[in-house]
Amino acid sequence: MQIYVDSANLKEIQHAASMGFISGVTTNPSLLAKEDPSTNIKDLILKIHESVGGHTSVEVISTDTEGMLREADEILSWFPEATIKIPFIPAGLAAVRNLSDRGIPTNVTLLFTANQALIAANAGATYVSLFMGRLDDIGTDSLIALQDTCEIWDAQGLDSQIIAASIRTPIHLLECAKAGAHIATVPYKVLMQSMKHPLTDAGLEAFLKDAAKISM
Ligand code: G3P
Repeated sequence: MQIYVDSANLKEIQHAASMGFISGVTTNPSLLAKEDPSTNIKDLILKIHESVGGHTSVEVISTDTEGMLREADEILSWFPEATIKIPFIPAGLAAVRNLSDRGIPTNVTLLFTANQALIAANAGATYVSLFMGRLDDIGTDSLIALQDTCEIWDAQGLDSQIIAASIRTPIHLLECAKAGAHIATVPYKVLMQSMKHPLTDAGLEAFLKDAAKISM
């Protein structure tokens, strides 16, 4: 399972990318809205993309097909390898079909069920983003939705890549990998939490202390 960072914060993204295990970045309007309001979005997106060098999903904000396609073309004029992130609404699916027929990668977002993911895949989505945390927030077990999706993918041999999104805890990350998601897009804080172990820290401290006693 590949790991993406789910953020629009350049510092976080640069640090995550510097560690060498991040294959992409996903953004959304809510993440972008957390950044300095004077920031030029195009410049920020380009810096984000340069920092990670791999997959970069940029979300459209129109709710009609034509508007989404116009935005997609604008984003692609910034950098042609962009993945266009599109909400799971009927107008969005039509945009996905259009982009897919033109060979442009799409990431269908705001998916909460395996059926939605299956429909998005049939519209030609390159990536389907299933939200975990937001399902758990409303008392629905997100793992069941993800396991159903992965089971359908195995049974049907579908090409779209499953992205587990709305990851809130290290346990989510573990569950996504076990279920068979292709990618998990993980907030910076959860990445750092997932790396942390007290025995790693204590072990390093002891090694460094002992290293000071020997000459290399
Ligand atoms: O990329 C979308 C998704 O990861 C959002 O997460 O925590 O706002 O539900 P969250």
